[in-house]
Amino acid sequence: MDQPPAPGDVARARSERGEVALRRRDDGALELRVNGVFVMDTLETTSERLLADAALAACERPERVLVGGLGLGYTAHAVLADDRVRRLDVVEIEPAVVAWMRDGTVPHGPAYLADERLRVVEADVAVALAEAADGAYDLVLLDVDNGPDNLVHAPNAALYTPPLLAGVRRVLAPGGTVAVWSATHSPALEQALADVLGAATVQEVAVPGHGRVGSYWLHSAHR
Ligand SMILES: C[S@@+](CC[C@H](N)C(=O)[O-])C[C@H]1O[C@@H](n2cnc3c(N)ncnc32)[C@H](O)[C@@H]1O
Repeated sequence: MDQPPAPGDVARARSERGEVALRRRDDGALELRVNGVFVMDTLETTSERLLADAALAACERPERVLVGGLGLGYTAHAVLADDRVRRLDVVEIEPAVVAWMRDGTVPHGPAYLADERLRVVEADVAVALAEAADGAYDLVLLDVDNGPDNLVHAPNAALYTPPLLAGVRRVLAPGGTVAVWSATHSPALEQALADVLGAATVQEVAVPGHGRVGSYWLHSAHR
């Protein structure tokens, strides 16, 4: 349910997971926070876009793609820039995030969501994966949290474990690819992917951010 914005806030809402806030910073960037924890901003979006670019490059035929986590839409937008993509399902757990993208509270939102290949689903990606048909996707990208070692939502821990990853394997078509964003290199996630899919690769991706160069880690595997 929407709540009246506090000074500095563009919009705030409360869900069963807590408070979601969109704030306009002094530098002009929009910032998404959940329960006061920084999730992302509009100033430095390289990592969100590189997630899509790196995963698309590793996937031979990314016609049907699932992205877990809409956020401010940068990964989805980068996926749709690839002409090979025929359908993109983006699953977002916070209805307010979807609403702010749709209604222009996030100014680029309506343009980013206008592509007719895109379907936005308001759901927990774990549930969406459980409900998807066998072999439904060529590429699954998970960027719903900061990785297994930096969770914003404790229940998301399950997403990085073999039972959930077995569900990802089931919805991947033969030859399909899964790529998982993480703020850290996670040997446990690498092992879980290898256990379920046979082998995993870990790529460190350097990104500029807030005046310094940092890294994020892409954990991926093929079916
Ligand atoms: C880091 S942001 C994603 C950023 C996105 N890649 C982009 O380009 O803007 C993570 C998003 O995942 C959502 N999320 C968190 N847990 C989720 C879950 N279990 N299922 C679906 N979405 C989830 C959050 O509400 C947030 O919008």
